[in-house]
Amino acid sequence: MVTERTFGYTARMRHVDLPAGYVMHEAVPGIEDYLRLRRVSGLMPRTAAAAQGGLPNSLFAVCVLHGTTTVGMGRIIGDGALFMHIVDVAVDPEHQGRGLGTSITAALLSHIEGHVPAEVYVSLMANGDAHRLYERLGFSPVTPEARGMALWTSRTS
Ligand SMILES: CC(C)(COP(=O)(O)OP(=O)(O)OC[C@H]1O[C@@H](n2cnc3c(N)ncnc32)[C@H](O)[C@@H]1OP(=O)(O)O)[C@@H](O)C(=O)NCCC(=O)NCCS
Repeated sequence: MVTERTFGYTARMRHVDLPAGYVMHEAVPGIEDYLRLRRVSGLMPRTAAAAQGGLPNSLFAVCVLHGTTTVGMGRIIGDGALFMHIVDVAVDPEHQGRGLGTSITAALLSHIEGHVPAEVYVSLMANGDAHRLYERLGFSPVTPEARGMALWTSRTS
């Protein structure tokens, strides 16, 4: 199920053609769906505490439902004007290869294009073969000019 938090407006979802039987909602995934989709899609599992703290701060998010089951998601985080970061694009493996990941990313991009005041830097981390999907939507690798870097850290007290 998706959470109560929806965004109250409809993004210009051009290029977003879902296969029959699937519906996209502008909504943040519920915590259980979020944790499950990360796990089954092979993304690094996250804790409920982190999800509880982070999900409500999403700038925008979509969920794809098949019947009543959430089978895909994607979120935008950032400052809403200068830098936006696409995260948590994930599709249940049983529903992959049908264009859902492309539709989710296109919907996120469509929202960004419709709501930023001027130019914006949109970034993401492409896992595995996902770069092929993102390149088709206009993303380019930042290497060799830059090198993406990351750090896992946790609360110490
Ligand atoms: C990446 C992902 C969201 C694509 O979902 P999807 O619904 O299968 O995507 P589409 O059907 O629109 O497009 C398929 C494209 O996804 C990519 N893809 C397919 N399976 C993939 C996998 N297991 N892992 C990563 N990318 C994959 C390929 O580039 C494929 O392109 P191709 O047609 O050139 O082979 C999905 O595979 C997934 O959830 N992967 C695990 C999570 C992840 O890596 N997310 C991206 C990083 S945030």
